[in-house]
Amino acid sequence: MSPQDVIIDMKGITKRYGFGDTESYALRDFDLTVKRGEFIMIMGPSGCGKTTLLNIIGLLDKPSLGAYFLNGKEVGRMTEQRKAKVRAKKIGVIFQDFNLISHLSVLDNVVLPMTYAGFTKTHRELQADKVLEKFHLQEKEYYMPYQLSGGQQQRVAIARSLVTNPEIILADEPTGNLDSRSSRIVMEELKEIHSEGNTIIMVTHNPALTVYATRVINMLDGQIDTDIKTVEDDDLPQPVKIHFRQRNVLKEVKEALSGKGEEKEEKK
Ligand SMILES: Nc1ncnc2c1ncn2[C@@H]1O[C@H](COP(=O)(O)OP(=O)(O)OP(=O)(O)O)[C@@H](O)[C@H]1O
Ligand SMILES: [Mg+2]
Repeated sequence: MSPQDVIIDMKGITKRYGFGDTESYALRDFDLTVKRGEFIMIMGPSGCGKTTLLNIIGLLDKPSLGAYFLNGKEVGRMTEQRKAKVRAKKIGVIFQDFNLISHLSVLDNVVLPMTYAGFTKTHRELQADKVLEKFHLQEKEYYMPYQLSGGQQQRVAIARSLVTNPEIILADEPTGNLDSRSSRIVMEELKEIHSEGNTIIMVTHNPALTVYATRVINMLDGQIDTDIKTVEDDDLPQPVKIHFRQRNVLKEVKEALSGKGEEKEEKK
């Protein structure tokens, strides 16, 4: 395994809460190496540390001890500003309860992460349009979240997490609140994103979903209990250098700037 294939490398990660008598550990001396293109499912009983792990990987929480290297850079040495930038550009997060912003339309929810990642307004709206089209949600662009079904809301949340073309997608029980049909649609979408060479780490309680994974990790008491790879490293999907979605957007931004894209601008 060449070092550049490793996207996440965690060594001795410990997350401690409280001190003395109230001391407890969400993660204990946790080691994890993730290669680009893996689709990891994390399972384990309630309270074993799954969400804590995702939050640390997603730079939303800090370990008490240990070292975390993301793309070879040690996260503990990054400034808060640097971390916010890395998070906005490289990481997409999907939550169980969708976490859509209720007073923003579908389109504005999807545009939001790009605001943090510093894209131009034209680029933001064209890219959001593209992603919503891919998820068959374009006709819902101006709906508010409460006007959508649970499955549709989760697809908007996935669209939102993907709109910046993140290399890593973290999903905490993304199908936990969905019926089986919506759940399958969401999983098929994650499968496609994975086939484009992105890395996915997903927490689930549903063993049936592990068919989508290339690796299944079972956690127990803040540690890895079992860790099984079902796909050889050499057979993981290769990253697409320039993302096809990005390539389309670049073309359209050029057209918009040269006047051909005016129709779109007027639609607002
Ligand atoms: N802010 C906190 N303060 C104290 N303890 C915490 C805090 N956050 C999490 N914990 C503890 O850390 C442990 C791991 O929590 P975590 O949310 O990671 O579990 P989980 O595996 O995601 O569980 P679930 O399947 O129920 O979502 C739990 O025992 C929890 O009580
Ligand atoms: Mg959890």
